[in-house]
Amino acid sequence: MCRLRIFLWRLLGIDYHQILRVQDNVFLKKDKFSELGEGTYDNGALVFRWTQAPLRIGKYCSIANNVRFIVDEGYHTASGITSFPIVNTLFKEEKTLPDGVDKNEFLSAVNQREGITIGHDVWIGMGVHIMPGVTLGNGITIAANSVVTGSTEIPDYSIIAGTPAKVIAMKHDKDVINKLNDIAWWDWDKKTIKSRVKDFYSSGQTKEESIEQFIKKYGK
Ligand SMILES: CC(C)(COP(=O)(O)OP(=O)(O)OC[C@H]1O[C@@H](n2cnc3c(N)ncnc32)[C@H](O)[C@@H]1OP(=O)(O)O)[C@@H](O)C(=O)NCCC(=O)NCCS
Repeated sequence: MCRLRIFLWRLLGIDYHQILRVQDNVFLKKDKFSELGEGTYDNGALVFRWTQAPLRIGKYCSIANNVRFIVDEGYHTASGITSFPIVNTLFKEEKTLPDGVDKNEFLSAVNQREGITIGHDVWIGMGVHIMPGVTLGNGITIAANSVVTGSTEIPDYSIIAGTPAKVIAMKHDKDVINKLNDIAWWDWDKKTIKSRVKDFYSSGQTKEESIEQFIKKYGK
């Protein structure tokens, strides 16, 4: 089916792979080196990568439109002397570097920031860019159009915003955060989550009251 589609698109003069893979990006859903946890959804997020560095996203994360994961630095920081990726560009056709050094081996030994890890129940707002090397925990909300870098420690259940993204608020106090992390509702099976749906929402009571009840009911 896919081959037929590619063939038909080619007849129309459309490069199928170019549509799916614009330059060096690929849809998150199609990325071979990304792992998405149970329940996590996205609206066409793109992954930019030049290496096979992992992108790991936990369970029940919500990823809005126009989100970009920049998984590695594309070898621009390989040299302190230049940001130009000499090996990747000037040696594009060669398998070895001068003195017979294997090009891929040389590149794999190069030190650069790469890989992204995101916890569970993270809401990534529209237009967010996540930079190489970022590690985020659970329950975090990332405000629209923020650029998340690895430069600041981001606590669980915080709301972060801006460029570079910084904590603008905490959703809960430390004790509640610890208890929610201990409950780890994202590890419940889907059937259980569905059967307990009402406990996730406040019906007429305040948010604080419903969290308290949730912790009372499911806390260890
Ligand atoms: C993060 C978010 C949930 C915060 O909402 P909120 O709790 O109601 O926060 P407020 O609007 O009261 O803003 C709080 C502060 O953060 C700032 N802020 C909010 N969003 C921001 C953003 N995207 N970038 C920078 N600062 C932001 C506000 O200016 C405000 O600053 P101040 O306290 O100095 O005035 C919301 O701003 C957001 O980005 N939602 C994502 C929307 C989205 O992407 N929807 C897609 C559908 S899935």
